[in-house]
Amino acid sequence: MSEQKIAEMGEQAVKKAYARWAPVYDMTFGVIADAGRKRAVRYINSLPPSRVLEVGVGTGISLPGYRRDHRITGIDLSPEMLAKARERVRKERLDNVEAILEMDAGEMDFEDGSFDVVTAMYVMTVVPDPEKVMRELERVCRPGGEIIVVNHFSTDRGLRGSVEKRMARFAEELGWRPEFPKETIMVCDNLRLVDEVPLKPLGLFTMLRFHKVDGGDAVSAGGDGLARVAAQ
Ligand SMILES: C[S@@+](CC[C@H](N)C(=O)[O-])C[C@H]1O[C@@H](n2cnc3c(N)ncnc32)[C@H](O)[C@@H]1O
Repeated sequence: MSEQKIAEMGEQAVKKAYARWAPVYDMTFGVIADAGRKRAVRYINSLPPSRVLEVGVGTGISLPGYRRDHRITGIDLSPEMLAKARERVRKERLDNVEAILEMDAGEMDFEDGSFDVVTAMYVMTVVPDPEKVMRELERVCRPGGEIIVVNHFSTDRGLRGSVEKRMARFAEELGWRPEFPKETIMVCDNLRLVDEVPLKPLGLFTMLRFHKVDGGDAVSAGGDGLARVAAQ
């Protein structure tokens, strides 16, 4: 969908932006986005002990929040952000964090169905190819598992819509796309959207929760219809 509407964000631009953000991230966007991150981690902590993949783990700001019987793997594209995450794991002795890896979310090294829970917080507006990343999140999640996306989704309406449109051309400098409709990530046949929660501040961010259904179930449930369920 709307590829023309989504600003170009190359891998090098992302790396450059987050090399700049890394030293100040926790004190700036880290604070602004705190409520959504906590909401997602709280939900994940309500699940039985799980293998969790955090995509775009950044400085690892969420890592201390996970229950210690969840086993966490974090990946990110930015070496500078990852260095902060590794330092945090070491300093806070987070021994449930199994790996912090430099890896592209659009092309992950994991086997299909490797994780019970896959989460991407404030990442989908940032990645160079959001559709490809969404398909990768689906692939590495096991059938019956969950995918939790926390993100800013843009609107066409009102003052917010016009501000987002005006800001769109600064996407590379900001390191994220102000103009990013939710439908951009509704591309996966085997993901059913089960919950959508507006988040603080001011509902600027949203938590989407998807269940991964078995490919076979999707066909017996009406095949084509299921993909569209996620798109509603
Ligand atoms: C806004 S930060 C979010 C960090 C963290 N999830 C949080 O809640 O604060 C976006 C992160 O996504 C990472 N990122 C962008 N594109 C990526 C990709 N293709 N693969 C992996 N990480 C990526 C960036 O390097 C950055 O650390």
